Amino acid sequence: MECVVQGIIETQHVEALEILLQGLCGVNKERLRIHELCLRSSPNLGSVSSEVRLICDLEQPEPTWIIRHVGGAMRGAGAEQLSVLVRTMVESKASKNALRLFYALGYKLDHELLRVGFSFHFHRGAQITVTVSSVNKVPKLHAVDEAEPVTPGIQLVEVTAPAASDNYTEVVTAVSSFCEYLAPLLHLSKPGVSTGVVPTAAAAAASLMSDGGGTTV
Ligand SMILES: *[C@@H]1O[C@H](CO)[C@@H](O)[C@H](O)[C@H]1NC(C)=O
Repeated sequence: MECVVQGIIETQHVEALEILLQGLCGVNKERLRIHELCLRSSPNLGSVSSEVRLICDLEQPEPTWIIRHVGGAMRGAGAEQLSVLVRTMVESKASKNALRLFYALGYKLDHELLRVGFSFHFHRGAQITVTVSSVNKVPKLHAVDEAEPVTPGIQLVEVTAPAASDNYTEVVTAVSSFCEYLAPLLHLSKPGVSTGVVPTAAAAAASLMSDGGGTTV
C-alpha cells in the first residue's frame, strides 16, 4: 500500500518550494523525466476494465521500464476521516517489450505523458517521497520531445510513502505532519480533491527566497 496526497503550485514558486524541501529533508533533489504510458483494457475482454501504467525515468543512466498498477483506496475504518489517501499499489520491473505484451493481452494505449521535474527521498517518520513535476501530454505516438504542458504555469506536487495494513496510521501521521511545513506554499489533499493554489504562496515564496533557504525547522 501507499499513502498519497497531491497539490498544485505555480511554476514561479517552484524554486522557493525546492529551497524549503532542501532545508527540510537535508538531501539533494533528484531530477526526473518520466515517460508514462497509460494503458486500459477493454471491459468486454476481461471481467472488469483495468488500467496499468508503464513508466520509465529517462533521467536515469540506464532507463528501465516499470509497470505500475494503482488499486482502490482503502474504505471504512475511518478512511474518509483521514487527510491522506491510503491505496494499494503494485510495481514491478518490466522488460522493453512490455508494451507489446499488454497489447497482446488486449490493452490499448489511452494516453502518454512526460513528467519533468525533481523529487526528494528522505526519512521523516516514514519513507517519504516528494515529487514536483510539470505534466506534459505527448501529442504523437512516443514523441516525448514534442510534449506540451497540460496546465501551463502549474506544477503537480505529490507526497507518497509506502505503508502496510499494520502501520498505515503511523505513515498517515508522518505524511500529514510533513505536509504542514509546506502549507504556506501549497495545500496537499487526497488525489481527486481539487484545492487550487493557496493565497499565501507568493508571500511565503518571497520570504523563502530572501532567506536563501537558511530556515531550519
Ligand atoms: C510500513 O510498512 C511498509 C511495508 O512493509 C514499509 O515499507 C514502510 O517502511 C513501513 N513504514 C513505517 C513507518 O514503519
